[in-house]
Formats: sequence, structure tokens, C-alpha cells
Amino acid sequence: MDHAAILERITASMRAAPDVGEVARYIPELASVDPNQFGICIALADGQVFASGDADRRFSIQSISKVFTLALALGRFGERLWQRVGREPSGQPFNSILQLEHEKGIPRNPFINAGALVVTDAILAGHAPREVLGELLRFVRAAAGDEDIHIDEAVARSETDHGDRNMALAHFMAAHGNFENRPALTCGTYFHQCAIEMTTRQLALAGRFLIGGPRSGGLISPASVRRINALMLTCGHYDGSGDFAYRVGLPGKSGVGGGILVIAPGRASIAVWSPGLNQHGNSQLGTLAAERFAQATGWSVFG
Ligand code: DON
Repeated sequence: MDHAAILERITASMRAAPDVGEVARYIPELASVDPNQFGICIALADGQVFASGDADRRFSIQSISKVFTLALALGRFGERLWQRVGREPSGQPFNSILQLEHEKGIPRNPFINAGALVVTDAILAGHAPREVLGELLRFVRAAAGDEDIHIDEAVARSETDHGDRNMALAHFMAAHGNFENRPALTCGTYFHQCAIEMTTRQLALAGRFLIGGPRSGGLISPASVRRINALMLTCGHYDGSGDFAYRVGLPGKSGVGGGILVIAPGRASIAVWSPGLNQHGNSQLGTLAAERFAQATGWSVFG
């Protein structure tokens, strides 16, 4: 299979795409990003790496960070984590408050904002935010094999200044006894984790721990690899998860910075990035590119 040619073809067709979507505006620092950018990179299980387009430009990974914090939390708490957060698709927008009221402060899954706040709250308990963010960066850097991965403080501050909705979710969970730290402390830590910046290439490399097998590097257990992939497939794109599974057929996690991490189990970690989003807050061209990539390679978890 000529991976380089597949990526070049996809990049060329994305450059010509008529509708690139809309950048996220509710985090002001993200509103000024040029939507006309596209990058794609694949890190194969055998160690080969192929990249195309703007694959070496840094972007805000936002909700993709939820995959890394979940990996830390599963390592630390195992099955106990599921007492505080569910593992069912939500069918609701990523920042919905509605469902949380019905379900008495137990979020549906660890990838919607409420669920990710619980995960961050769990790994934060008994530690300073600086320690937890340090541990997270060590994990991401080790996974990527690259020390040059950092938090963009301007993005973290921008979201802190406009984070009322996440604060509301956190306070609501605190009212239901499902929060261990002060909402402002957990939210502050969460805004910083979301503000990690990476290039598309770094993200593809960082995702290798989810491929499974020897390339996973022993960062998490094989059982956790399978479980995180299952959650990415069912919940990684919020109320667009079914559509992503139908079109791409591989587990994926999106972020409002326009990145998507896609895993082809046993084969590769794939990262795509284009800042314009669709109506569910997932990258418009990133989704299309992942679909074209899955078609071109024939890769799918469904056979
Ligand atoms: O909490 C938020 O709203 C953002 N920091 C992250 C949301 C996000 O990336 C949703 N993904 N598509």
C-alpha cells in the first residue's frame, strides 16, 4: 500500500473542499485560527511515519486530551472510576447540562465535558494541579517520544475567562456529591490540559499507545487499550459518534481545535487536523479526510 500517495491525494482534495466549517468561537483564542489549514499524519505499527499538508503546525488538542487523562485515571483507579462516570454514548452536545440533571450528577461518559471534568477531578484529588499537569505532559511526551510538547497558556487563560458553562457543570456535580475538589481548581486544571498544543505529527505519534500490541510501549495495560478504543468509537464524537463510526469505522476522538485522533487497532495511529468544525463541534475536513483514508486503505474495525 502506498501510504504517502494516499495522504497526498487526500490533502489535495481537502485543499479544494468547498466547505471547511467554522472555527470554535466560544474560546476567543481559538476564534482567530485560520480555518484554511489541513494536516494528516499516520504512524504505522511497524514504525513508519507518513505526513502531508500542515502536519507540523501546532494546534490546541482540546478534547483529545480527554483520551490521555482517561488513560491516567484507568491506570490509577481501574474499574472504580466507573462509580463516578458512565460509559454510554450521550446523544447530546459535548457541553450539555440537560442530561446531567436527569442522571443526578453522574455524566454519561468520560469524553463529554462533564465526564472529562470528573476524570480530571479524580486524578487531581490529593495533588496540586501543577503535579497532575506535569504527570499528564510526561505521559504525552513519552507516548509521542518527543519532549517538545507544551501547554499554551494564552489558550488556557482564554478558556478560564470564558469557562462559565464548564464551571456550571462542575458546580452541579459538586451539588450531587460527585466532585472532590473545588470546581474552580478542577476546571482550571481541565482548561490547561485542553490547552496542550501539538502538531498533527506529534499527535499521531502520541496515539501509538492505543494501537495495541508491542508498539503500545507498555504505557497502559492491553485491557485499557481495548476499553479506551471502545469508548472512542462509541462516545469520541459526542452526538456525532454514530455518524463517525458509520463513515470511518474506526475509533476516533475529536477536539474543538480541529484535531482528530483515529486508531486502526493493530495497524496505525492516525491524526488529522483542520480547524473548521461541523455542527457537532468536530472537524469538518478532518472527518471527511478520515473517511477517505478508511476507504482508501480498507481499514475498519468492522471487517
Ligand atoms: O471544555 C471545552 O469546551 C473545551 N476545552 C473542549 C471541548 C472540545 O474540544 C469538544 N470537542 N470537539
